[in-house]
Amino acid sequence: MNLKKLYLDYFESLGHVVIPSAPVVPENDPSVLFNTAGMQPLIPYLMGEPHPFGKRLCDVQKCIRLTDLESIGDNTHHTFFEMLGNWSLGDYFKKESIEYSFNFLTKVLNIPVNKLAITVYEGDDKIPRDEVSANRWIELGISKKRIAYLGREDNFWIAGEKGPCGGDTEIFYFRSDDEVPEDFDPKDERWVEIWNNVFMEYYQDQDGNVTKLKSKNVDTGMGVERTTAILENVNDNYLTSIWREALKKLEEITNLSYQGNEESMRIIMDHIRTSVFIAADPSGIKPSNTDQGYILRRLIRRAIRHARKLNIDITSNWEEQLANIFILEYQDTYKELKENKQVVLDVLKNEKEKFNRTLEKGLKVFEKLTKNMQNVDGETAFHLYDTYGFPIELTIEVAKEEKMSVDVEGFKKKFSEHQEKSRTASAGKFKGGLSGNGIIETKYHTATHLLNAALKIVVNKDVHQKGSNITSERLRFDFSCNHKLSDEEKQRVEEIVNNWINEDLKVEKITMKKDEAIASGAECMFIEKYPDIVSVYQIGDVSKELCGGPHVKSTKELGKFKIIKEEASSAGVRRIKAILE
Ligand code: SER
Repeated sequence: MNLKKLYLDYFESLGHVVIPSAPVVPENDPSVLFNTAGMQPLIPYLMGEPHPFGKRLCDVQKCIRLTDLESIGDNTHHTFFEMLGNWSLGDYFKKESIEYSFNFLTKVLNIPVNKLAITVYEGDDKIPRDEVSANRWIELGISKKRIAYLGREDNFWIAGEKGPCGGDTEIFYFRSDDEVPEDFDPKDERWVEIWNNVFMEYYQDQDGNVTKLKSKNVDTGMGVERTTAILENVNDNYLTSIWREALKKLEEITNLSYQGNEESMRIIMDHIRTSVFIAADPSGIKPSNTDQGYILRRLIRRAIRHARKLNIDITSNWEEQLANIFILEYQDTYKELKENKQVVLDVLKNEKEKFNRTLEKGLKVFEKLTKNMQNVDGETAFHLYDTYGFPIELTIEVAKEEKMSVDVEGFKKKFSEHQEKSRTASAGKFKGGLSGNGIIETKYHTATHLLNAALKIVVNKDVHQKGSNITSERLRFDFSCNHKLSDEEKQRVEEIVNNWINEDLKVEKITMKKDEAIASGAECMFIEKYPDIVSVYQIGDVSKELCGGPHVKSTKELGKFKIIKEEASSAGVRRIKAILE
């Protein structure tokens, strides 16, 4: 049974248009490191902007959630996962949405109604208790005893702190061989959540004020991994066909069986799969000590630590063997895996070699530092972590081999002092939750198009966008170019952009077929990523680009454009940072 295909076909038959998955690293949203839900790339449309494909959409979105990082190792969590989603942008609402979900589960997937239970929003002082949803479930055949009303913690959904949001109704499945209890107890862990239907009719601002959105939307999300486990009747996501080849390979590499080594094997498979998707992303993330690069580094290193635990020869190409399996599995759906295969394998190998050296050095330092100690104190454990990249678990492990214990509490204390410091440092960066589409960011979007067009005039017409990132403080633009821009070139670019701004050019959005847009000479970065119908933003007659928006109405709104930095980004790619004053 091909769950993804069944899902898309079903919603297509109900008038939904299938849209492509956005990249795992959001293109114009500095407030999140990764796309955590299918709705994230759709925020402008949930806020009221018309979507070029209409009011009914569905997709399979690549997601990465880091809140679950510590849960990896159990049988239901993953850092990377695929999310099935369907949306109504001001079209159908609760009744239809619930019916569509119910029919898909019980009629298409043939899940017995008796295995399902539901939670709905109990309401608060601003939003009423959701009797409409509860009644709809009952009408469709769900017993009253299987419906629980829960509060904001459980049945209210928002990405981050501000943005489109609303109460939700969640569908649970009884994942156990035990007899299904008549009464639904949401705290009973045998019930696992499989689908979340959010009724996004509100907007929450930074201060928690809730106002009505222009339209009543539906945003649903269902995890591919969990639902596959249900369909294949296993109580462990990692025992589904999704992981079969990887698990087989891992058992072969370790010469161990999954039983008894579940935790480490799950962590290794999960982390390598996620690393493959991050390293393959068109944004070109590399392991580093900040942002996405830091997460990539952490994932690879944690996988290595667990590989070591399973006695894998960590200098062998074990990681490549596993990565190849994931690339093969997903490359037909996600082309970047095929295109960037070598990049992915290099990233993994380089980071592995780096960490192996760290490990070697760290082990020597460990020996030296602890020579006269009975036990490893917190300070030493933190020093090993901070200076030599030794995770605490590794220190515990090594200490154990030496028949020593570790002051974990002391380590934790040091660690949280340090965390507090780095939190303060990064607070500025992530302030404002989902702020990617505010007024200032919108201006930077438009300025980015002008910059792209000006570079074509000043440098040459073959300059193309290679990446872009916008915060409320600046724009960052990567473009193909083989030389460092001269001062004259930079000045010329500024002049041209500022002239256009002063001319007060109109910014117009035109919706057209993708082929026509390309034929008309519209600029675009990843053509295959766009749907068949696209929106094109035209600025006067100086720029024409495929883009999801949002943009200002006319260039006068932008203020003064200024380049603050021009530097190399990677081979053949330069990077400009610019501000609007
Ligand atoms: N946004 C909701 C979620 O991620 C539904 O898609 O659960």
